[in-house]
Amino acid sequence: MNIRYDFTGHVALVTGAASGMGLATAKAFAEAGAKVALADVNADSLQTAADALSASGHDVIALQCDVADDTQASTLIKRTVERYGRLDAAFNNAGIQSPAVETADVPVDVYDRIIAINLRGVWCCMKHELLQMRSQGSGAIVNCSSLGGLEGVPGRAAYHAAKHGVLGLTKSAALEYAARGIRVNAVCPGIIDTPMVSDMLTGEKDVMEEMMRNVPIKRLGQADEIAQAVLWLCSDASKFLIGQALAVDGGYTAR
Ligand SMILES: NC(=O)c1ccc[n+]([C@@H]2O[C@H](COP(=O)([O-])OP(=O)(O)OC[C@H]3O[C@@H](n4cnc5c(N)ncnc54)[C@H](O)[C@@H]3O)[C@@H](O)[C@H]2O)c1
Repeated sequence: MNIRYDFTGHVALVTGAASGMGLATAKAFAEAGAKVALADVNADSLQTAADALSASGHDVIALQCDVADDTQASTLIKRTVERYGRLDAAFNNAGIQSPAVETADVPVDVYDRIIAINLRGVWCCMKHELLQMRSQGSGAIVNCSSLGGLEGVPGRAAYHAAKHGVLGLTKSAALEYAARGIRVNAVCPGIIDTPMVSDMLTGEKDVMEEMMRNVPIKRLGQADEIAQAVLWLCSDASKFLIGQALAVDGGYTAR
């Protein structure tokens, strides 16, 4: 893709950076000149991702973190700022999928885990990012919602509850900080070709075939297509955009 952003001198933080859209976004920030803190719960794949970016000459740090844990989220932002001095952009992307199960049959521990990672995890990270950005008087945050934040899909109530909740967090925080130089927005990816979706395409073939029939563009999205949207949302090119849920979904939610 030949759109070029310049994040030279900027510091970006990406959660869920060891895989999929997080990895693509961390790479895109690094290629655009940012110093990048990569965070993930999976220490091995996180280190592999950070090593690959370092080997390409980028200035990155790998920070293991479970985003659902407020103390770990606090430490994540502290260590990023200790290393790089500030925080300009954050993509709160870490998340997990829920198995396709009818609402009445979802075990409570499954529901709690989805909400803990996909909703409280975004809140924990955003809270500590905002503390830093508030003291700087600047910053841009992008929270990862989903087409599941905009619509319902049978079998996915817990996941969609979390992703709808991410939009509530995004809009309210956006209003609070709009006049203080901090922009908060959300991206709502459609069905994107990542390890998460590969698992669904093999494990839940019928559900996924039905969903793919509803994708107007008739293909999966690519992780880099989400990364480009995130960089735009963190760049001055979108400086009048506040509290929005940007659907990047091949037309799925346009129906
Ligand atoms: N792939 C899609 O089609 C799609 C569509 C809409 C939204 N999303 C959302 O996009 C985000 C990224 O998904 P992906 O498809 O790139 O998935 P992925 O599985 O490829 O990557 C997710 C990453 O998050 C990490 N992670 C999981 N739990 C974590 C935790 N508690 N703390 C820190 N890191 C954790 C994983 O280790 C993994 O590296 C998720 O929030 C997902 O819900 C995905």
